[in-house]
This record gives sequence, structure tokens and C-alpha cells, in this order.
Amino acid sequence: MTRWMPLFQSVKQDWETPPSLLEQLYPAFPFDLDVCASRANVKAGVFFSPEDDGLSRAWRGLCWCNPPYSDVGKWIGKAKQEAEAGAVVLCLAFARTDTRWWQDNIPSASVVTFVRGRLKFSGMGPATAPSALFMFGEPTPEQVAALSRWGWTVRQIKQGPRRCFAGGFDTGGYTRAHFGLTRLPRLDTFR
Ligand SMILES: C[S@@+](CC[C@H](N)C(=O)[O-])C[C@H]1O[C@@H](n2cnc3c(N)ncnc32)[C@H](O)[C@@H]1O
Repeated sequence: MTRWMPLFQSVKQDWETPPSLLEQLYPAFPFDLDVCASRANVKAGVFFSPEDDGLSRAWRGLCWCNPPYSDVGKWIGKAKQEAEAGAVVLCLAFARTDTRWWQDNIPSASVVTFVRGRLKFSGMGPATAPSALFMFGEPTPEQVAALSRWGWTVRQIKQGPRRCFAGGFDTGGYTRAHFGLTRLPRLDTFR
């Protein structure tokens, strides 16, 4: 049986992360594992290839996940699940806020950054949609600060015993310096 396939369907799977993005994130994100990669585009010391099948493996430590374009939902669902088991996962995907995978998983993310402008993926030119970085698992303040340099960033704060308030908002212990907000007068009450 003949099936019609969209032209270039397979080519679109590998939106390799722009090196400039990770170079700026690495100091705060020394990744242990790239959960989906090939030898040609790996972004951490250890990686799962299609032959390993990262979807069927346990993820450990600080993980990087820029998933294949075709199966984003499965990978982001897996990232959320692995964070519940102790991993910390930073993901990069298109900000498809209307999709089921976004609606089902992103409310569990601890940090979401809506990337300013269009990323230029290696060898692909500018992205065809806006991108987001999001994290599952507890971030450090340095990680939130690093992400916030890439665009508007929201942090989900878990209620804990130590609270820090500024201008009526619970900052979750983050200081003005963590966000580079030194010139905003309304935030003068930050420590
Ligand atoms: C969007 S690219 C990201 C590559 C690289 N990690 C990066 O950030 O630039 C997705 C990668 O996932 C790999 N991949 C596809 N299916 C996979 C699977 N089941 N397990 C592991 N890797 C897979 C592809 O070979 C491809 O290199």
C-alpha cells in the first residue's frame, strides 16, 4: 500500500538546540544527562540515543530535554513523571499553549520561561513558532536567574515555612538581584 508522506517530515525532527543558549545556561545547569540526542548533537556528557530509547529509560540527575518534534507530548509527560521520581529536568519546546501536552503538564512545571524573540535552531534557521524553556523539579535561585535572561519567567512557589514578601508578593526567598531587577522601584522591599 502506498501512503502519502509530508515532504521533509523526518528532517523536521531534529531542531538542534542553539549552542549560544546552552553556553549561557551551562554554568547554572551542569547537565548530567541529555535524554534524547545523537552522537552528532549531544548536549551533556551522557545521552540516550534513539537506539537506547530515552522514553523507556529512567532519567537521573539534572537532565536536558529538547524532544523530537513529532512526539513532544510523550517526552514532556515523561519529564514530569521523572521529576516526581527525583530527577530535575529542563525542557525546550515550542510554546504551544493550546495543546493537550502543554495543558496537561506545564501546570506542574516549577519554572516556565517564554523565550523572547525567535530562536535560530542550528542548521534550521529561525523557528516557526515561539519557544519556551520549562523545568520540572526544584530549581536553584541561580537557575531561575539564568532562565529569566531568556524571556518572561514565571516561578511556581511551593508554600514552605520560610516566606519573604515584597510589595505584597511572596518571593519564595528570591532576591531582587536574582532577577536582575535593580531598577524597579516597586520592588524596593526586596532584600
Ligand atoms: C530536537 S533533537 C535534540 C538534540 C539535542 N539533544 C539538542 O538539544 O540539540 C531530538 C533528538 O532526539 C533523538 N531521539 C529521537 N527519538 C529518540 C529516542 N526514542 N530516544 C532517544 N533519543 C531520541 C533524535 O535523534 C534527535 O537527535
